[in-house]
Amino acid sequence: MSETPEARLRRMRALSLEGGGADAVKKQHEKGKLTARERIELFVDEGSFVENGAFVTHRCSDFGMAEKRVLGDGVVTGTGKVDGRTVFVFSQDFTVFGGSLSGAYAEKICRLMDQALKVGAPVIGLNDSGGARIQEGVVSLGGYAEIFLRNTLASGVIPQLSAVMGPCAGGAVYSPAITDFVAMVDQTSYMFVTGPNVVKTVTHETVTSEDLGGAHAHAGKSGVAHFTAPNDQACLALLRRLLSYLPSNNTEDPPVAPCDDPADRADASLDGIIPPNPDQPYDIRDVIRSVADRGSFLEVHEEFAQNIVVGFARLGGRAVGIVANQPAVLAGVLDINASVKGARFVRFCDAFNVPLVTFEDVPGFLPGTDQEWNGIIRHGAKLLYAYCEATVPKLTVITRKAYGGAYDVMSSKHIRGDLNLAWPTAEIAVMGAKGAVEIIFKREIAAAKDPKAAEAALVAEYREKFANPYNAAEHGYVDDVIQPSSTRLRLCRALEVLRTKRDRNPPRKHGNIPL
Ligand code: HXC
Repeated sequence: MSETPEARLRRMRALSLEGGGADAVKKQHEKGKLTARERIELFVDEGSFVENGAFVTHRCSDFGMAEKRVLGDGVVTGTGKVDGRTVFVFSQDFTVFGGSLSGAYAEKICRLMDQALKVGAPVIGLNDSGGARIQEGVVSLGGYAEIFLRNTLASGVIPQLSAVMGPCAGGAVYSPAITDFVAMVDQTSYMFVTGPNVVKTVTHETVTSEDLGGAHAHAGKSGVAHFTAPNDQACLALLRRLLSYLPSNNTEDPPVAPCDDPADRADASLDGIIPPNPDQPYDIRDVIRSVADRGSFLEVHEEFAQNIVVGFARLGGRAVGIVANQPAVLAGVLDINASVKGARFVRFCDAFNVPLVTFEDVPGFLPGTDQEWNGIIRHGAKLLYAYCEATVPKLTVITRKAYGGAYDVMSSKHIRGDLNLAWPTAEIAVMGAKGAVEIIFKREIAAAKDPKAAEAALVAEYREKFANPYNAAEHGYVDDVIQPSSTRLRLCRALEVLRTKRDRNPPRKHGNIPL
């Protein structure tokens, strides 16, 4: 007796859900990894996932592939909800041909991305793949290029998040790299353009996959990964939290969260947080956590270029992007990595209507041949460019040092800062008092009977004159000098006012940021 249509559907659905089969699933679990479907179920709101393309198979017949067809072909695609908002998800299934990418598999991802762009909803990619399906050759390479094109066209239109939860090698790394944020799972994921064997052959270096391209290598050294997570579950929870700060697309504002933290909560400890000695460090994250809604700070790129801190937070329930110099690391100086880290974050926030809050305590750009020869001019310019072009509300708080070019760069009034506040401890000047005096009073100091005493007196005079916020306030370069404990209230009020801010840059194809 022939199979009824219902029975056929049930059988095919069951086959599709099986993926690579029980043995492959067991292996996946033994490696400490969840399966593609388990990941999706954990990621989206319960029961919200709707799959598309469950019956797609590859079209390859070389190398005995005609007999090896698996429904779904190694990637699970569909839509779901996160906190009630629509998301598009693809999840690579390592249990099917090692999650490798065929032409049909690439088409599934491309269809998903095309629709996400039309709908205006984020795309989340859960990556776990052996790369190009070797049996398909150039068809697979073409499939990757089609995905890269869509990643690029969707950039700045819909948020794109990547979780790397297994292998990700060769050119395949470039899809996550173009997306907005990359999260990697510790010990079970890696990313590299060429693996340890090729490295050994070409450069004679011996290195493990983990050391070359594991989560911490990319979070701390290369900056490719914005987040690390100890396991799949934590990684997926992190992506859900990240989405809570983001709008679904670039025409919307980020969602406003309920907030029971009063805007006028004044933390008296902030009034004493700046050490009396200007060379003494303090942790800018204490300031951020104190000013932001309780528990709302999500640091991005925590392990990379720690002399600048970036991340999302909320003020009165509204999402903001925080950029802050970190006096506790390298005195908060701007170097190449800090500039690039800051610039990328500023551009993301601007693209997706997330207001920027900048905390400034910066002695300047890092001197040295290493920095100059590696292009601190070019890279520092990225941060300047990013701040200049940003049209979202821009709020700046100068907590202590705002010296030299770095004063201009860090969201100054002159580059369209909407509200520029300074604490009484702010020092806004071309450079620090000692350096300035050594240059402008070189002759006087040398001629003095007691050069040390003369220098000390001149330093005190310079400090009195310039190492304060009032000179800048006289010129209107800072809007107000405030008690540190009132920072939260002032920022919350300003955000409220700036909610309807509209600003535009001149029409153009695109700017030419110094890459
Ligand atoms: C086809 C693949 C595959 C691939 C893995 N498999 N990678 N099939 N194409 N690229 C299959 C294996 O044959 C195996 O099938 C199953 O997936 C599981 O793989 P294992 O090797 O058993 O798993 P594991 O030991 O965990 O090793 C995972 C791995 C390894 C490190 C990813 O499989 C591997 O090195 N694969 C090749 C990676 C690669 O060179 N890819 C091309 C990169 S170039 P069976 O049937 O035995 O279970 C590239 C270019 C992209 O991707 C360019 C874009 C522009």
